[in-house]
Amino acid sequence: MSNNIKSTIAILLLALTIHTTYPSPTMASPYNPPATRLRYHSGEMLDGDIPISILWYGGFTSLQKSIIHDFILSIVPNKTLPTPSVSQWWQTVDGFLLKAGKSRAHLRLAKETTDVACSIGRTLGNNDIRMLARRTGARKGGIGVVLTAVDVIVDGFCMRNCGFHRGQKDTTSPCYAVDCTSDVVSLGIASRCCESDATTSYAYIWVGNSEAQCPGKCAWPFHQPEYMGPRYDTPPVGAPNGDVGMDGMVINLGKLLAGAVTNPFGNGLFQGEKMAPVEVGDVCPGVFGKDAYPGYAGDLLLDGRTGGCYNAHGVDGRKYLVPVMFDHHSGSCLMLV
Ligand SMILES: *[C@@H]1O[C@H](CO)[C@@H](O)[C@H](O)[C@H]1NC(C)=O
Repeated sequence: MSNNIKSTIAILLLALTIHTTYPSPTMASPYNPPATRLRYHSGEMLDGDIPISILWYGGFTSLQKSIIHDFILSIVPNKTLPTPSVSQWWQTVDGFLLKAGKSRAHLRLAKETTDVACSIGRTLGNNDIRMLARRTGARKGGIGVVLTAVDVIVDGFCMRNCGFHRGQKDTTSPCYAVDCTSDVVSLGIASRCCESDATTSYAYIWVGNSEAQCPGKCAWPFHQPEYMGPRYDTPPVGAPNGDVGMDGMVINLGKLLAGAVTNPFGNGLFQGEKMAPVEVGDVCPGVFGKDAYPGYAGDLLLDGRTGGCYNAHGVDGRKYLVPVMFDHHSGSCLMLV
């Protein structure tokens, strides 16, 4: 072997070593989304009129509730909002619905229930969440949202997740097949089902207020991240509504609403395994603006008055930080700012 070839091999080996020990592509700066695309599995999605029913489980102030109210109200198309807006952000979800032959989603607040005293306790399992979801009074084709307060412990909270969405189907109910929005609903079972607001098939979401439990995980970037390292040394950013816990809940609720609409029963839009799906809100984790990298949320807008950081305007002068979603038109993470 000539010295020339030897040195070429040495350089190649060196290059390989450097390559394999270098942080994986997702650790690179700026953030590059995976090349894979979300796949529509031909199943159900929620579209058209989507009634949202909320159960406030535990103590929330009216100020805290209004942050979530206004967020949901901001999701509907609204051309009078300053850009970038929450309604603009949601258009990427509508884009997937239209591509799948569905109509745009029109989320609306339908019902609210409060359980200040935490009637089934302050330590909940997943079955308790399912039961509470039923108590939201969620309607067919709608979403029940269970929001738990700072002092409520939920199985897996902080360890596995900051919230989740699931589908609830009662296919044995005679009301299951009834379409109450059609004007051919005849007498008998069909009209009884519609009159009684029969709950047969709906999606539900749970999100916890993480402020006292794991804000570094579920309310990042408003709190120092839980896992510190050389790349995680950027200071936290100001919460746009001045409430680390609630502004963190907005991020998780936003992501889960997008997932519940596009993949309510596990056969809609996602990539990867059905049991561990990567959904529209999961493709660009930790990214809120341009030039984001792990530990840095990206370049955000700053509210000079409050010091809060945001990337989307909402109704009534609200400002929100919403998670960047994957856009099928551009095949990339769609930055609002
Ligand atoms: C649109 O936004 C404006 C400005 O915040 C608000 O007053 C109005 O109620 C919104 N419209 C809808 C349909 O939500």
